[in-house]
Amino acid sequence: MDFNLSEEQLMIQQAARDFAQNELLPGVIERDRDQKFPTEQVKKMGEMGLLGMMVDPKYGGAGMDSVSYVLAMEEIAKIDASAAVVMSVNNSLVCAGLEKFASEEQKVKYLTPLASGKVIGAFALSEPEAGSDATSQKTTAEDKGDYYLLNGIKNWITNGGTASYYIVIAQTDPEKKHKGINAFIVERGWEGFDIGVKEDKLGIRGSDTHSLIFNNVKIPKENRIGEDGFGFNFAMAVLNGGRIGIASQALGIAAGAYELALKYAKTRKAFKTEIINHQVIAFKLADMATQITAARMLCFKAACEKDAGKDISESGAMAKLYASQVAMDTTIEAVQIHGGYGYVKEYHVERMMRDAKITQIYEGTSEIQKIVISRSIAK
Ligand code: CAA
Repeated sequence: MDFNLSEEQLMIQQAARDFAQNELLPGVIERDRDQKFPTEQVKKMGEMGLLGMMVDPKYGGAGMDSVSYVLAMEEIAKIDASAAVVMSVNNSLVCAGLEKFASEEQKVKYLTPLASGKVIGAFALSEPEAGSDATSQKTTAEDKGDYYLLNGIKNWITNGGTASYYIVIAQTDPEKKHKGINAFIVERGWEGFDIGVKEDKLGIRGSDTHSLIFNNVKIPKENRIGEDGFGFNFAMAVLNGGRIGIASQALGIAAGAYELALKYAKTRKAFKTEIINHQVIAFKLADMATQITAARMLCFKAACEKDAGKDISESGAMAKLYASQVAMDTTIEAVQIHGGYGYVKEYHVERMMRDAKITQIYEGTSEIQKIVISRSIAK
């Protein structure tokens, strides 16, 4: 693992930082208040290559490495965690899965517009009764010869109301348990496919989270991803990479809150001096800086291993488990350092504290990450 960033990586980091400051910061409080999706901003992110960062340029991607992805995600999430999750899902769960496992025809038809940011995608695994226990899928896709008939409900789907293409995981043969699960590409607007309620969330309120309802939706056979029965392994493989994205989002939330807290502590006076001169505050900032650096290293490690083609189930889980805890701890302390100001919206840190919580829940709860890590180290 090389700790020196290349010129290209530094340029991507700077471009993402500038974009976040200039385009995401204005209106971030209002988008959170009104639950407004950052439509224009996401469009620009697509034009910058941020929505298909690691995809081969021949399929519309930016052809960058995973460390660049971590760097860009951190910068976006420092300012707007909602825009960051749109980016993470499109890159890691949708584009990466299609590039690695889809057929050439599927890549041309679906990956190319998704990676170039012309449209965005969603990944539909979770259900009302199948969250952590992902093999308990109730959504069914019945094999009808030249098509599958899809029925069921998916819950808490990021980009649910705005996506054009959805990767939907469904049970095709319950007898075979997880080997009877398949993944399909489903297009918005197909007959019988309805977008359900938009969730009114604690955090990441600018992102668009919906349930999806499938009522006898016909999926052409050619829209199944991979061999019959590959869907669960597909979902697990995709989620391993997704966890790097969410870990980087958590890292960005933590780093954003830390930067604000540090700035505040250097200017706010109490008891005749800037509060950073009080050890009780300085030590909080020292802990934050150390933990954020450690979280960043775990993200880089997982990203480097991904680019080296290694199994990233353990390193991705470790990065997500740790970075999401750091995001929660750091944002709580950032609010505390800001005192009363921290509790009002204008100072951003209360939003960051609300945004941080989801990173311990989606794309595998912290408890699931511990299952993945403990099984890996016990092998
Ligand atoms: N990487 C690769 N393969 C994995 C894997 C991993 N991390 N974890 C499990 N598998 C494979 C196993 O090797 C096995 O495959 P084979 O039979 O071919 O060997 C298969 O999956 C079944 O594994 P288990 O028997 O271990 O299954 P399990 O039911 O005991 O546990 C689990 C699996 C790890 C708990 C899994 O269900 C899991 O990860 N659950 C969490 C699901 C999740 O992350 N949901 C997030 C929803 S998506 C989201 O949030 C997106 C969003 O919008 C932001």
